[in-house]
Amino acid sequence: MDYRATADWFKNRVSETPEVAIVLGTGLGGLAEKLENPVVIPYFEIPGFVNSTSPSHLGNLLFGYLAGRAVLCMQGRFHFYEGYSMEQVVFPIRVMAALGVKTLIVTNAAGSLREELEPGDIVVIKDHINFMGTNPLIGKNDESLGERFPSMNLPYSPELHEQVRNIAQSNGISLKWGNYISVTGPSLETKAECSMFAAWGADIVGMSTVPEVITARHCGMEVLGFSIVTNYSNLFHNLAHSQEEIRHNADKAAQNLLLIIHEVLVQNTN
Ligand code: HPA
Repeated sequence: MDYRATADWFKNRVSETPEVAIVLGTGLGGLAEKLENPVVIPYFEIPGFVNSTSPSHLGNLLFGYLAGRAVLCMQGRFHFYEGYSMEQVVFPIRVMAALGVKTLIVTNAAGSLREELEPGDIVVIKDHINFMGTNPLIGKNDESLGERFPSMNLPYSPELHEQVRNIAQSNGISLKWGNYISVTGPSLETKAECSMFAAWGADIVGMSTVPEVITARHCGMEVLGFSIVTNYSNLFHNLAHSQEEIRHNADKAAQNLLLIIHEVLVQNTN
């Protein structure tokens, strides 16, 4: 399926083409409820989209307004561990590029590799390590999207980081910062793997996001990424939090994250 054909299909269903897209990960799908005048399209109706099979991933593409700006919102994403090809996993990002999306905000749930990153914390993704053993850009390069060897120097926008730092400060929101390492999953990491990741400089671990970010950077989008820490990794098994506590913390983090995203949109309105 050609991503351009899907972009055309989509354009016929909305009033305006968005310049900002948000990918909502595990537990964050509720943010989509804040969109005004939403158009909700289930993934199974969209040409070229596969279905999201993950728990707590809802599987809708939404178009609507947040802070007065037209935004596209993925309520749930596709994971490599679901058995989809990398091409299928990143297909929505290429559709966004064809629609003219310039800024991508990605969110996910992640495990902590550092004791001070606690369940419920929002972590701004500083940089990433691709440890999925593959890359979404493998194969013939689509020159109309981007170059063969795109730079991954500063994949996450320093300008957006600066804005986020200021927004958090002026709203009294505590933010942490860290490097995200992506694994394929679906098995969770062993203690030995976690030690290795931490020694490499990773702070949080998860099973998504990096393919989307590589693809977005290939297409020239600006990227901002956030993880919500849902659990300590196996490095800290003795620090397990109760499920109830984790849920409570994640909800609080989701509210603060929405406020931050809202303010980022306000500041980037031109
Ligand atoms: N490991 C990998 N992915 C995850 C984790 C984890 O501990 N928590 C949430 N997603």
